[in-house]
Amino acid sequence: MFSQALGAVALAVSCLVSVSTAITYSPVQPPSYPLAVRSPYLSAWIPGSEAASLSSNNAQFWAGNKLTWSVIARVNGSTYNLFGVASPPEGTTSATVTEATYTSTHSTFVVTAGSRQFTLDFFSPVSPKNYLRQSLPFSYLTVTLAAGDSSSVQIYSDIDSKWTGQTSDSTWSHTTSGSASVFQISGVGAATYAQNSDGQALWGSAVYATSGTSLSTQSGPISTVRKQFVNNGTLSDSYADWTPGGVVAFSHNLGTTADETAVTFAIGHVREESINYLGAAQTGYYRATYKETPAAVAYFLEDYDDANTESTKLDDLVQSTGISSYGTNYSDILALSVRQTYGGIEITIPNESLDTSDTRAFIKEISSDGNINTVDVIYATFPIFYILSPEYLKLLLAPIFDYMATSAYTKNYAVHEIGANYPNATGHPADGEEMPIEESGNVIFLAYAYQKATGNTDFANTYAAQLKTYATYLQDNGLYPAAQLSLNDALGALANQTNLAIKAAVGLATYGALIGDASYTTVGKEWGDKIWTDHLGTDANGTRFLIQYGITPWFLVYNHYPDLLFGLDAFPDEAYNATTNFYPTVRETAGVPLDGSLGWGQTNWQSFAAATVSGDARDIFISDLHAYMSNGLNSAPFSDRYWVEASGSYSAGESYSFRARPTLGSHFALAALSGANTWSS
Ligand SMILES: *[C@@H]1O[C@H](CO)[C@@H](O)[C@H](O)[C@H]1NC(C)=O
Ligand SMILES: *[C@@H]1O[C@H](CO)[C@@H](O)[C@H](O)[C@H]1NC(C)=O
Ligand SMILES: *[C@@H]1O[C@H](CO)[C@@H](O)[C@H](O)[C@H]1NC(C)=O
Ligand SMILES: *[C@@H]1O[C@H](CO)[C@@H](O)[C@H](O)[C@H]1NC(C)=O
Ligand SMILES: *[C@@H]1O[C@H](CO)[C@@H](O)[C@H](O)[C@H]1NC(C)=O
Ligand SMILES: *[C@@H]1O[C@H](CO)[C@@H](O)[C@H](O)[C@H]1NC(C)=O
Ligand SMILES: *[C@@H]1O[C@H](CO)[C@@H](O)[C@H](O)[C@H]1NC(C)=O
Ligand SMILES: *[C@@H]1O[C@H](CO)[C@@H](O)[C@H](O)[C@H]1NC(C)=O
Repeated sequence: MFSQALGAVALAVSCLVSVSTAITYSPVQPPSYPLAVRSPYLSAWIPGSEAASLSSNNAQFWAGNKLTWSVIARVNGSTYNLFGVASPPEGTTSATVTEATYTSTHSTFVVTAGSRQFTLDFFSPVSPKNYLRQSLPFSYLTVTLAAGDSSSVQIYSDIDSKWTGQTSDSTWSHTTSGSASVFQISGVGAATYAQNSDGQALWGSAVYATSGTSLSTQSGPISTVRKQFVNNGTLSDSYADWTPGGVVAFSHNLGTTADETAVTFAIGHVREESINYLGAAQTGYYRATYKETPAAVAYFLEDYDDANTESTKLDDLVQSTGISSYGTNYSDILALSVRQTYGGIEITIPNESLDTSDTRAFIKEISSDGNINTVDVIYATFPIFYILSPEYLKLLLAPIFDYMATSAYTKNYAVHEIGANYPNATGHPADGEEMPIEESGNVIFLAYAYQKATGNTDFANTYAAQLKTYATYLQDNGLYPAAQLSLNDALGALANQTNLAIKAAVGLATYGALIGDASYTTVGKEWGDKIWTDHLGTDANGTRFLIQYGITPWFLVYNHYPDLLFGLDAFPDEAYNATTNFYPTVRETAGVPLDGSLGWGQTNWQSFAAATVSGDARDIFISDLHAYMSNGLNSAPFSDRYWVEASGSYSAGESYSFRARPTLGSHFALAALSGANTWSS
């Protein structure tokens, strides 16, 4: 009897387990799904491991702090929690998640609630060449009721002031603009350009909006507002004052319908003064057209069909580019990298003139230190721009070159970044990091990537004198680098760093191509021969590159990637063949580390290296990256640094410190070899 009862319990438990895990992940289960990822301050995610229990798990800001964002549906009077209801109201049921999918621009979850099925489509547009669409700091959530029986259905959604970075003192308001119903929530008393400890913007407003014919709205304490929906399906259209934990909410009454029906919400975070560029405010590009937030979000809602059509085209391009470059493992990686990369960037114009002929772009070094327009971060990211939006290289570089031309900057080499703390692009601090060869080489690569991909010589012409200064710095200092930091600043300042000398050699060859002066190209080749053929930067037998001249361990060099991409031939084929043979011999459990003394690797530089090798070496770089991305050990927004072997309490394949960095554009390095500027829309 007793054992039979136990058996029955075990059976019941296994049924429950099989129900809750009956979820299909397509193409794989990523560490974290982007939900609303459009700017450094609109960056909401859900860990891959929480997708199966979406109904009771909260969205998270990139830093991991929780955000209130729920979807609840009534189906013929019964209430189902579809998403983000951590404390389910009495009498409600959790919906069952059956499918979780990501593409370059959408994260989609299919859930069953009673007799009906819903799809939650979290869609963050990436519009590489449409600055208006790209700059709108909003993201879509479309809830689609699948065709089914003729039950009566209402769909509810709310957010709270956690989206403002401040939960202690906020205000909210409701307004309409055209057909859009718009809530805004703002923190009280925050300094402009200030962040909380999680990196959220404290100034500006969180925005939640929707439009529809049978819409009701309400703001107030969370339990009051949700109870109103659960009991009635319709909200009260009344607006209580802000209270801690309170929500702003919408309910769409779809009525009694057997048809497929969809409602769309827009979530966002707006800052009129978005970036402080050298003491003057920049604002979002979209403000040239839509000065007021309600009009901007109303336009965003109206733009849904066009944005969605574009997203399908972009998803297809990324998918086909990935597959033709290296199969579906590679396209899975690329698709997950797109929103994270563009979501670290903002497109701006001067707040005062709103002049769109004076457009700039700013990128945040999310999670690693918050620097703004870090040159080596742009270098890591550039392959995606090379393919999808080469103009971004100019938009990101121009603010750096303009700053370097001011009297505040007196160095004869390129700067590391233009401010320690995004969004304050107020200049490189006196005690900031100096990476002279690193950044001088990088600005030349980036300027040429722009020129080669677009055919435009305007950047090289406008900044000719500065570019020459940085090339001269490389020529005078690059073959035997003094003890300088490289972008791998964790290694400290090392003299004669082989990878820096490679950067200088390829940088000079690139400068020759940029300005059409073969003498620089010749120097680049001579240095390439010294470093490789004469073994200055290799082991005595010439089988691998070393970290420093004559000093072990080996190093994963990636700075000759631009040599291949641009077809410069600064390094001989033997060098590429040797690394092709070598890297598979130093692969650890979960991948190739950055050098022979480290237990961790970086997906950015593994991806650059993958593009410089062939055969087995390329296979292991791509397979290991795919395995790391889908191994189920990680839950942070994609981290580009991970343990390739077990270390301390970490297992091989676990991420290490970084998260949500826009540097994932690096994953496109291999794809970029097959062509520049292939996106048009
Ligand atoms: C919904 O509820 C009504 C009233 O209880 C009932 O008549 C109807 O059959 C139900 N519809 C469905 C599809 O279950
Ligand atoms: C940016 O500068 C302002 C002062 O102008 C300061 O209040 C704010 O905290 C700074 N932001 C960051 C992220 O450091
Ligand atoms: C409940 O909803 C109906 C419409 O479906 C509305 O007429 C009524 O006022 C609501 N009751 C309350 C208490 O909100
Ligand atoms: C930005 O522009 C708005 C609208 O013209 C203005 O109210 C605000 O003062 C400006 N901010 C700054 C810092 O110039
Ligand atoms: C750099 O390498 C060269 C050639 O091996 C050597 O002469 C020089 O002393 C090294 N510089 C430093 C700072 O170690
Ligand atoms: C160099 O190659 C020779 C011949 O293959 C080998 O005996 C020697 O051990 C190698 N030296 C090093 C430092 O790898
Ligand atoms: C490099 O490897 C390829 C493929 O194995 C081979 O065809 C080529 O001859 C090699 N080139 C050199 C310079 O070793
Ligand atoms: C794809 O990646 C997985 C690891 O996620 C690996 O096991 C598999 O071999 C790879 N497939 C191909 C065709 O490289």
